[in-house]
Order: sequence, then C-alpha cells, then structure tokens
Amino acid sequence: MVELITKYLADTAKLNWREKLAYIAKEADVTFSTSFSIEDQIILDEIFKNDLAIEVFTLDTCRLPTDTYKLWQHNKKKYQKEIKAYYPDVEVLQEFVTKNGIDAFYDSKELRLNCCHIRKVEPLQRALAGKKIWISGLRREHSAERADKDYFEYDEALNIIKFYPILDLDEMEVWAEIKKHNIAYNKLYDEGYRSIGCAPCSRAVRAIDDVRAGRWWWESDEQKECGLHMVNGKLVRNKDVK
Ligand code: ADX
Ligand code: SF4
Repeated sequence: MVELITKYLADTAKLNWREKLAYIAKEADVTFSTSFSIEDQIILDEIFKNDLAIEVFTLDTCRLPTDTYKLWQHNKKKYQKEIKAYYPDVEVLQEFVTKNGIDAFYDSKELRLNCCHIRKVEPLQRALAGKKIWISGLRREHSAERADKDYFEYDEALNIIKFYPILDLDEMEVWAEIKKHNIAYNKLYDEGYRSIGCAPCSRAVRAIDDVRAGRWWWESDEQKECGLHMVNGKLVRNKDVK
C-alpha cells in the first residue's frame, strides 16, 4: 500500500484536482462519500458530468436538514445517476433512542459520539467494505488536524486508501467553482451555515468564526469530529497534531 500511495502522489503531483480525480477513477473499487456540502457538490458534479467510474454514496443519518434532502433530490433529477443511500442499523438505533431519547447528543459527549457511531460511522464501514479508495471532500482549512493531511493516506483500521482531491482549495475557491459551473448548493449556506451535518448538531456561524464552529457548538473542546474521519481508527485531537 505504501508503494501504491507513493506512486499516486508522484503521478498526480503536477495535476489539478480535476485531473487527479480522473486519474484515480481509472483504478478499481473507488467510492466517493457525499454529505452534499459545497465541497462535495463540486466533486459530485465533476464525477457525474464526466461519467467517471466512481461509485457515489451518502450516509442518511435520518436527522439531516430538510434543505440537504432537497439538494439530494435535486441532484437525482439533474444528473440521473445513482447516489447510494446507507442507513443506520434500525434495531441498534431503536434501542439507543428508546433508552436515551431522541436528542440524547446534547446530554453528554459520550452519547453524542454514540449517536454519531450508530448513524454515521457504522454505516460508513458498511459503505466502504470491499473498496480500495475512498474519496471525500476534506480541506486543509477545515481544522488543524485536516491541515496536516496529504492527498493520499492509507488507513490501516479501514484497510483503505483515502483520497482528498480538493484538500488545498480554500472556501472562496470552492464557491467560485459552484458559481462558475452553476452547481446547486444547500440553501442553508445563504443563512450563514458554513459546515452542515445533522440538523440538530449544525448551526450558522459568523464570517470571523472557524468554518466548523457551528458543528456540535455546545461542546467546549476544539475537537469537531464525529468519527468519520479518524486516523487509523482513532479520533485525533488538534493538540495531538505535530
Ligand atoms: S464530518 O465528519 O464532520 O461530518 P464533514 O461535514 O466535515 O465531516 O465532511 C467531510 C467529508 O466527510 C465530506 O466531504 C464527505 O465526503 C464526508 N461526509 C460527511 N458527512 C457525510 C454523510 N452524511 N454522508 C456521506 N459522506 C459524508
Ligand atoms: Fe447524531 Fe448529531 Fe452525530 Fe447526527 S451529528 S449522528 S444527530 S450526534
């Protein structure tokens, strides 16, 4: 795997993000996860418009904002391509909600992470089973931990190569792509949202705030992760990053 990553990094070093994506689409078992963020919308548009051989999936936590569902449906109609939906295990979710309540994530960090595990992380593991390359829309600007990443990383716990095609784009550049190519975006951005996850766990922020400040805003520590983007099976705190 290390040799493969070295090869990918060398082969794509001089390519722009679109060319990088086209290069990796030639590999087998490539999958892209979309949350319908602005980042994911520009990647999705590139994949669908160019018929790239990349499977597209989303994790429906069953708590997504109505505007996210509207955009999902818009994409379905516009591109007429498959976006595979993954769902939480119904029995596990039923037990969790019955025991802890429908909004348990506000009660403790532990319950919040349990909810994220049931609604996102476990379905993600199913979505990635048997895949070789997982594409996502992470950007360096999102957080100190993400700033430290490389375009390709091997994740031992998931036994998968992670690829971040737009790692180096800044927020303005992503918006420029959206406008230039007339790509639809989640209407919550017009209300001041800059990072959108589940409805009860995301809110609008000010321009001077961190881009992810509106996620799990009631939690005091700096770590704004749900467990989707762990490093070798571990949540990495900003202070742990060199
Ligand atoms: S999160 O871990 O905090 O929720 P974030 O919202 O920054 O992630 O999104 C980063 C990337 O994670 C997205 O570009 C997308 O690839 C993936 N992702 C996040 N949420 C989902 C989701 N519900 N379904 C599919 N992919 C997702
Ligand atoms: Fe649950 Fe909130 Fe995590 Fe969504 S973001 S899975 S509602 S804790």
